[in-house]
Amino acid sequence: MLRQAFYGLILSMIFYLLFHGYTKLGLNYHFKKHYPGECRQVTGLDYGSEDMEVTQDGLAFITSGMDYSSNSEKYHSFIREKNIRGTIFLYDFKNPKLGASALRFQPSKTFDPETFQPHGISLLEDKAKGEHLLYVVNHVRHGKDRVEKFKFIPRVNELQHLRFFNDSKFLILNDVALISEDKFYASNYLFFESHFLSLFEHLLPIPLGGLLLVDGNHVTEIVKSLHGPNGVILSKDKR
Ligand SMILES: *[C@@H]1O[C@H](CO)[C@@H](O)[C@H](O)[C@H]1NC(C)=O
Repeated sequence: MLRQAFYGLILSMIFYLLFHGYTKLGLNYHFKKHYPGECRQVTGLDYGSEDMEVTQDGLAFITSGMDYSSNSEKYHSFIREKNIRGTIFLYDFKNPKLGASALRFQPSKTFDPETFQPHGISLLEDKAKGEHLLYVVNHVRHGKDRVEKFKFIPRVNELQHLRFFNDSKFLILNDVALISEDKFYASNYLFFESHFLSLFEHLLPIPLGGLLLVDGNHVTEIVKSLHGPNGVILSKDKR
């Protein structure tokens, strides 16, 4: 009797985990394929592009070369062997023939392009001069996650580093969504830096992530206990 109850318990736990994994991966959703026009591949940015932001004028800023601590050793060595550098690419939807080109960084004391591993990106448009502000999640190689703030200088296609945001509440970040200058949401994606432990964090329903509100140097966790929150975006009215 006791043994049957025990087997029953194990079986229902397995079912629960399988069901959780199934819905977490979105396997229960069905998508209609929809193309707004002719599709073609943008070449030149082959590794780890996870996010992009597009201005109203059709200028796209695309992060490339993503890596973070809890990725597998195999992935880290792939990135190293291919000598993949973290970069932000520019692509103009109004001039697709130009393709994507990597933006240069202006020299800065507070930012080292060698350790740059960009992930989520959000932008604040400057309609007058085109000097858009970019906020980018940086999984600093061998360092702590932070958010970089750049100004795009359109005349020379360069990024000027303005400052960075760091905080003890930052875990492994994923994405940012700007409300106004120096005020943004950031998703705290994963708790564990170890690949092995993060596998459990992915597979088991343990909600160790959350949503942060960063306001200048002040960081508050506004939503607690989320399970691996990924992208974050605002509605058009920013509410
Ligand atoms: C943020 O960065 C500064 C400058 O590198 C450093 O002194 C400080 O300890 C960092 N804070 C956290 C919470 O990592």
